[in-house]
Amino acid sequence: MTNATRALFVLFGGTGDLAVRKLYPSIFNLYKKGLLDTKFALLGLARKPLSNEEFREVVKNSVEKHAESQEQAEEFASHFYFEVHDVTKAEDYEKLRNNCNELDEKYDLNGNRVFYVSMAPRFFGMVANDLKKQRVLSENGGFNRLVIEKPFGKDYESAEELNNSLNAAFDEDQIFRIDHYLGKEMVQDIPVIRFSNPMINAVWNHNYIENIQVTLSESLGVEERAGYYDTAGALRDMIQNHTMQIVSLLAMDEPQSFVDQNIRTEKVKVLQSLNFYDENGAKENFVRGQYGESSDSKAYRDEDGVPEDSINNTYVAGKLTFNTPRWGNTPFYIRSGKKLADKFTRVDVVFKQPVVDIFSNSGLESGITNNVLTIYIDPRGGVSFKMNVKDAGQGFHTEKVDLSYLENDARAEVVPEPYERLFHDILKGDVTNFASWQEVAAAWKFVDPVQKLWDTTKPDFPNYTPGTMGPKAADDLLARDGHKWVYPEDK
Ligand code: NDP
Ligand code: BG6
Repeated sequence: MTNATRALFVLFGGTGDLAVRKLYPSIFNLYKKGLLDTKFALLGLARKPLSNEEFREVVKNSVEKHAESQEQAEEFASHFYFEVHDVTKAEDYEKLRNNCNELDEKYDLNGNRVFYVSMAPRFFGMVANDLKKQRVLSENGGFNRLVIEKPFGKDYESAEELNNSLNAAFDEDQIFRIDHYLGKEMVQDIPVIRFSNPMINAVWNHNYIENIQVTLSESLGVEERAGYYDTAGALRDMIQNHTMQIVSLLAMDEPQSFVDQNIRTEKVKVLQSLNFYDENGAKENFVRGQYGESSDSKAYRDEDGVPEDSINNTYVAGKLTFNTPRWGNTPFYIRSGKKLADKFTRVDVVFKQPVVDIFSNSGLESGITNNVLTIYIDPRGGVSFKMNVKDAGQGFHTEKVDLSYLENDARAEVVPEPYERLFHDILKGDVTNFASWQEVAAAWKFVDPVQKLWDTTKPDFPNYTPGTMGPKAADDLLARDGHKWVYPEDK
């Protein structure tokens, strides 16, 4: 165990839903696996008063089901401390500074500090600034890292403003912008699948790939999050961040080496070479949807907290192209929505058919179909490749066979949760699996014209039924190019 993983975590929003449901179990799993130095402390902050003991109870309950014994959960929770802190009160930072210094000394933490802001986004910039201004950052050469939850702005302008305020206090390499999709096993597998398999790497371009489809499908609706979701919509909630990150990993050129700065360079380059749309382009290449009702499911507009005339999008499909030699006119089709047929995330890479089909040229009914490489991201990781072979029997026909690998229970069991992996990366100081400012900026610049168009035109909503794969217009988007969604045809 090296000193590099020793750290004090300062968690703003220490009693919040995310902290209790996701963050504490993730830190606990690192602790259990010995990936966290036994010298660590976590200081949780919120306004509602709790004693250290009460806070530790919250933590114990949150990690209980992952613990091997009660003692293990108790030992873990004994590293947790609570401080009443209102981020809007400058005077509260003096106490914070003192507490950080005390815990640093008590646990011999070498000044290594991770500030995790798990609060409403309007506080992100303010907290970053006050940490610096009120000298809560360590000054003895230990690391100071700032972790920012989503959403990172609501458009390019607000994101830039937020970024400027973070940059006034922290350097880019100290800022970890969370996108939990980048912590998913199979998202991290995309570069490995592409760059470690010469056979795949060689054909990863417009000469061989007809189109690439990225689907982030959810079966649940808005649940209790209307307050946030009705102002965000699927475009901001799922496309600008998670989907664009997946697209950048699929589209980027090969990095010089697999280290964070080189990977970022390639992701930024490819995102900046997107063909950005104007209003007409947005109209032509994006489809929005909102779910209606079904026999056992409410319409979006009838959900708690949703205005009855809401024009919010709960579904988005779009077509992207890149202005790079690798991609030519190859379209990337993306889609995401709530209340769809199933909960899954997958990438389908559809290859072109042979330039010359010698079988049909010879008068045979060959029935050759496109090769499809599917990367299954959720709920079970895996890869499949559909190819043509001759079918058994006398005549001449081809059939499609599926070479498929799905991770088994034993492997699924050891796959870390996204937040666990991301915490580990934060401790290592590895920014590979976090969104850089330039990536975020390019993604906002890409989606902004779409959002602007949608804010100013009235849609005919609702336009899809729960349990389906979205509005018909999303199928038409591909049909126009002579393509179709691989899912659900090839479930
Ligand atoms: P919650 O509303 O559950 O928690 C907010 C936390 O902030 C509470 O601990 C609250 O405690 C504290 N807080 C609020 N105001 C102040 C203040 N003025 N000073 C100090 N503390 C304050 O939010 P979530 O945990 O759901 O979300 C946190 C962040 O994570 C958000 O950015 C969200 O977008 C993001 N996120 C959340 C997800 C989730 O599943 N929950 C999923 C993905 C992202 P108190 O009121 O006592 O001060
Ligand atoms: C979050 C969105 O970022 O991702 C949610 O805010 C969405 O609306 C969630 O449900 C989906 O994440 P996952 O990991 O369950 O696919």
